[in-house]
Amino acid sequence: MKKTVLVTGGAGFIGGNFVYYMLGAHPDYDIVCVDSLTYAGNLSTLKKAKESARFAFEKADIRDRGTINGIFEKYRPNVVVNFAAESHVDRSIKNPEVFLTTNILGTQVLMDACIAYGAERFHQVSTDEVYGDLPLDRPDMFFTEKTPLKASSPYSASKASADLLVMAYHRTYGLNATISRCSNNYGPYQFPEKLIPLMFINAGEGKPLPVYGKGENVRDWLYVEDHCAAIDLILENGKNGEVYNVGGHNEMRNIDIVRLICKYTGASETLIKFVTDRKGHDLRYAIDPEKIKRELGWTPRTKFADGLKKTLDWYRENESWWKEIVSGEYKNYYAKMYGDKV
Ligand code: NAD
Ligand code: TYD
Repeated sequence: MKKTVLVTGGAGFIGGNFVYYMLGAHPDYDIVCVDSLTYAGNLSTLKKAKESARFAFEKADIRDRGTINGIFEKYRPNVVVNFAAESHVDRSIKNPEVFLTTNILGTQVLMDACIAYGAERFHQVSTDEVYGDLPLDRPDMFFTEKTPLKASSPYSASKASADLLVMAYHRTYGLNATISRCSNNYGPYQFPEKLIPLMFINAGEGKPLPVYGKGENVRDWLYVEDHCAAIDLILENGKNGEVYNVGGHNEMRNIDIVRLICKYTGASETLIKFVTDRKGHDLRYAIDPEKIKRELGWTPRTKFADGLKKTLDWYRENESWWKEIVSGEYKNYYAKMYGDKV
């Protein structure tokens, strides 16, 4: 059936991958991407999508109610998927305010527009970070959808706040809404500030590889396409008002990922530099994905070794995509964030 899906944050990492996933998976859908193109948004990510007659791009800030309403009026989306967010924990520690306005108030503006223009579904792309962290010495413990919210960083607190607001809109106004809480994603088009691309780029340039603390923190990595498939399934068959955890039981210590990147690039492990830890650094994330497997039949398809190779191959083959980023404002960010560490 023909549908118009409005994707916010589609010039970013996961949203961009989702645009391509949906254009490929649903030849009868139109996709409208709304993105304000912050430092993390790249129009070059959407270059191929823009060639499709089923794709439209609107530069707009999700906090700007008038403009957002105008976009809803113009396209009348059936479904809205909200990826737009400030997404980097380290930035949220230095400057929390924009995380609160975009991640919470921006979500409110979108939900109000869904109600005003009669969208059938609002889907909020959330994160496992809303659950806080798990101890390193309890491998038997996982986040389920019933785990209490206990965010650690301003970033995760803003995402948890948005989740609460989505549930409040569902109950109070009858908004048809779903939430997915996914573990760490990796894949093409991820902004170079995040662990995997940062280490790949630094390793290639022979620069220090700044590992926070002892590198023992654990993240549960999922290939981005598997996340996109999970969201698509939730849009198709997910139950109104439900939360779905998304993760592939792929826990890795940061130091082990950095060592794999050294191996891939041929960089010496002597580049690894243990630096001052992130404030409030979450120890371990680990998702229990049983609900989405049982109810929607989702399973991750990409094994970590294959996904990491595909990702690093992509960064090697698409130097121009990331070189344009790291040669600009990113230099100031890096100097400010890492200058006194490495
Ligand atoms: P990203 O930082 O790569 O992209 C965010 C995009 O949102 C950018 O294109 C940016 O321009 C846009 N944006 C930011 N503020 C905006 C605003 N006010 N109005 C309109 N557009 C705005 O982020 P990502 O890693 O792709 O994450 C996307 C979503 O997935 C986020 O909501 C994040 O919380 C969630 N998530 C991310 C991960 C992960 O591992 N990256 C894991 C789970 C959930
Ligand atoms: P990141 O990619 O920022 O994702 P998140 O904080 O959402 O998990 O970081 C992943 C892990 O890597 C996290 O434990 C912090 C660590 N890390 C480093 O050790 N060094 C770095 O330079 C970065 C960016 C992250």
